Amino acid sequence: MNVKGMNILVTGGASGMGRAFVLALAKDGANVAFCDVNDAGIAETTAMAAEFGTKVVGFKANVADEAEVVALVKNAADALSSGGAGGLNGLVNNAGIFRDGLIVKVDKETGAVIKFPLSKWNDVLGVDLTGPFLLTREFAAQVIERKPGPAVVVNISSIARYGNRGQGNYSAAKAGLVADTRVWSLELAPYGIRTGAIAPGFVDTPILAGMKPEAFEAMVKPVPLKRVGTPGEIYAGVKFILECDYFTGRCIDIDGGLNV
Ligand SMILES: NC(=O)c1ccc[n+]([C@@H]2O[C@H](COP(=O)([O-])OP(=O)(O)OC[C@H]3O[C@@H](n4cnc5c(N)ncnc54)[C@H](O)[C@@H]3O)[C@@H](O)[C@H]2O)c1
Repeated sequence: MNVKGMNILVTGGASGMGRAFVLALAKDGANVAFCDVNDAGIAETTAMAAEFGTKVVGFKANVADEAEVVALVKNAADALSSGGAGGLNGLVNNAGIFRDGLIVKVDKETGAVIKFPLSKWNDVLGVDLTGPFLLTREFAAQVIERKPGPAVVVNISSIARYGNRGQGNYSAAKAGLVADTRVWSLELAPYGIRTGAIAPGFVDTPILAGMKPEAFEAMVKPVPLKRVGTPGEIYAGVKFILECDYFTGRCIDIDGGLNV
């Protein structure tokens, strides 16, 4: 498969890596639909993609909301196939959030035990794991119904999948996403759908912009390549999974060799 001419849906396309994927895919000749919850960012990405000459359509949708995802996949497939035959043959599950904290901690002054809030656990699981489940389910259903030909799903996990202190919710979601990459590769292969995952290490996106220099230095120290990655370097992995017809059910860590 070649990304040129593919119809690909990217989640979280208004910022960071998602925006980089939308622009790089459009530059490489794909038609791209993307979603986000950030109106201004959706408009910016759409304007930035105009120079590439392929179809790029932005939708406002929350990946954790079932009804919104059902509508999104239908509308994206219609938009990229002009309502005619065919539909989406690529999906990049990129949207993600984190809400960090320890499972319990003790207040130094009062000695009180502070418990990690269930709401923050549920928020992260909702966006980072339930989101890709809903998207992949709807994507697979439309592949079976609309028959766009061979299709592929790329899940954006994280190196936190190995377990990261202070990220119980995020680590669980990102590890679960790799487990389901395997599950979906087994369940969806009979329909011509491959699924792969990328687990990035530290990547230069707006998430890192607010970091203090000393925190940034400490983060980069254990990385053998002594720097963070670029969204373009992560896109290289996404493109590989989209294009390699013999790749399914596996996760590629792109992390500068970080020892986890
Ligand atoms: N930046 C890193 O160092 C890094 C490392 C490993 C993995 N990741 C993963 O890569 C992905 C992209 O991260 P990023 O650094 O570009 O982050 P980012 O915050 O720049 O972009 C994430 C985008 O997802 C959107 N989003 C959030 N919740 C959403 C929802 N419910 N529905 C739809 N869109 C939603 C945000 O509005 C934003 O535009 C995430 O899944 C993240 O966990 C990032």
